[in-house]
Amino acid sequence: MLEEIKRTAAFIKAQTNDFTPEAGIVLGTGLGGFADRIETSYTLEYKDIPGFPVSTVEGHKGRLIFGEIEGRRVVAMQGRFHYYEGYTMQQVTFPIRVMQQLGIRYLFVSNASGGINTSFRVGDLMVITDHINLMPNPLIGRNIAELGPRFPDMHNCYDRDLIAAATRIAEEENIKLQYGVYVGGTGPTFETQAEYRYFKAIGGDAAGMSTVPEVIVARHMSIPVFGVSVITNCGLSDEVGDHEDVQRQGRKAGVKMEQLFKRMIKELK
Ligand code: HPA
Repeated sequence: MLEEIKRTAAFIKAQTNDFTPEAGIVLGTGLGGFADRIETSYTLEYKDIPGFPVSTVEGHKGRLIFGEIEGRRVVAMQGRFHYYEGYTMQQVTFPIRVMQQLGIRYLFVSNASGGINTSFRVGDLMVITDHINLMPNPLIGRNIAELGPRFPDMHNCYDRDLIAAATRIAEEENIKLQYGVYVGGTGPTFETQAEYRYFKAIGGDAAGMSTVPEVIVARHMSIPVFGVSVITNCGLSDEVGDHEDVQRQGRKAGVKMEQLFKRMIKELK
C-alpha cells in the first residue's frame, strides 16, 4: 500500500509543480461550495489520478483542488469516498494518506449528519468533539510502521487547540456552534427510530456515514484534526422536514462552516 500511496503522491506533485499544502480539507455533502473560496492553482479530477477511487454518489464532485485561502496553501477534496459505495476502508482513506505524503500538517473534515441531541436544530453547525466508530476500522490489516503505530491513541482525536480556536472565532464572527459526539455508521440506510435512540443512549449527538475512517487514519499519522457536522435532519423528531427548508438550512449552515474554516486556516500556526 505504501508504494501505491507514494506513487500517487509523486504523480500529484509532478502535476502541481510540487505544491506543498499546509492543510487538507474534506468537503462533505452539500459543502463543496467552500471550493469557491480557494484561489485555485491546480485542479485534478479523481478519475485522472492513478490509484484514486472514483466517486459514485450524485452531487459529489470528485476532484482535488490545490490553492490558497487567506494566503495559506491548502488541498481540498471536493467529494469523498464512502464505505457504503462499496469501497474498501483502504480506498476510503487513501486520499488522506496521499495528502499526508503531500505535506499536510492539519486536516479539516466536514459532513452532513442527523441530529440526535434533542437540543439541536436543522441547520446547526456541530463541532465534533469525539466520535463513536460503528464501521470497520480502517487500520485493520498489516500496520505500516512508517505511517504510524500499531495501536494509535485516540485521546484528543479532535484537536483541543483547534476546537478552542473555533470557539473563539465563532464568538467573534457571531456563529452559533453546537458541540457533540459523531456516531459513524456504515449507511446507506438512515437509522430507524430505535437506532437513533440507541445512538443517543450510547452517547451520540449526531449520526452520519462518513468522516470517522478518515479521522482515524489522520490520527494514525499524528495529524491534528478539526471536524464539523451540519445538522440536516433531526433523527428523534417525528416531523418529516420540508425538503426545501432542509436544503436551505443546509446551505446557510454551509456558509457558516466556510466562514469558520476560512478564519481557522488563516490563523493556523
Ligand atoms: N443518519 C445518517 N447519516 C446522515 C443523516 C442521518 O440521519 N443525515 C445526514 N446524514
